[in-house]
Amino acid sequence: MALPIYRTIADMRAQVATWKADGLRVGLVPTMGALHAGHLSLVNEIAPHCDRIITSIFVNPAQFSAHEDLGTYPRDEAADLAALQATKADCVFAPVVSEMYPDGFTTAITLDGPALGLETDNRPHFFGGVALIVNKLLSQSQTDVAIFGEKDYQQLLVIRRMVRDLDLPVEILSAPIIREADGLAMSSRNVYLTDAHRPIAAKLNGILKALAESKAESQDDREAAEAQAYDLLLQAGFTSVDYATIRDAETLAVPTAATTSRRALIVARLGEVRLLDNMAAR
Ligand code: PAF
Repeated sequence: MALPIYRTIADMRAQVATWKADGLRVGLVPTMGALHAGHLSLVNEIAPHCDRIITSIFVNPAQFSAHEDLGTYPRDEAADLAALQATKADCVFAPVVSEMYPDGFTTAITLDGPALGLETDNRPHFFGGVALIVNKLLSQSQTDVAIFGEKDYQQLLVIRRMVRDLDLPVEILSAPIIREADGLAMSSRNVYLTDAHRPIAAKLNGILKALAESKAESQDDREAAEAQAYDLLLQAGFTSVDYATIRDAETLAVPTAATTSRRALIVARLGEVRLLDNMAAR
């Protein structure tokens, strides 16, 4: 049977209402489409935690700035639906922009805490747009559980904090990064990589692993390991490095003696393409 696609909030809510009336637990997998194995793994990962799964597909204009790739962001709804058909997804919510941001829309979300620094230094508009759309999707779907990939680690922390701060009645799950055979973290934007850049992109994961495994207990050791990762990225052929850093895994603050878990995070650019990767650090 073809996967039902809801284009309006009202139609999606009517479906959720029938599930809830039957006492079923509903899960949400928010995506911007251009689905790859990483997205499909989110559907598999959430499946044991709910009875019905909504996958949303919406390229959210609010998280792109004027000079970014909103217009050219990869979109292939037919391929996305075919891929989801083979998963445990029960329906797709794919609204148009005017359904999510009708004329006169003015509300914004202001963020602090884990939203500060890193991605925000490079994309100041980004987390406000993500928080807004995730908040809307959660409230529209009244979902019991939602899942986000660790690939966008800072995004995951921002969403967890927003859900906690706003008392949203939803459980947030996370799922590990899915990688290509050579270690490159899967991303919808990997299709932008040129043939010349693709082998360079594969080197990011090894440099990240070395950073994550470095003995970086003191501030000096940590800064030396970060500087080394930075240099190795440039030597490998990356165009520029937005950050290569070890942070507190819970807050993304610079680690202190009190930090109990740490995360290594790198964002490096190849031409116009920003590649993100992260992993638990020692
Ligand atoms: O990670 C993404 O694909 C997007 O930022 C999200 C969470 C679907 C919000 O648009």
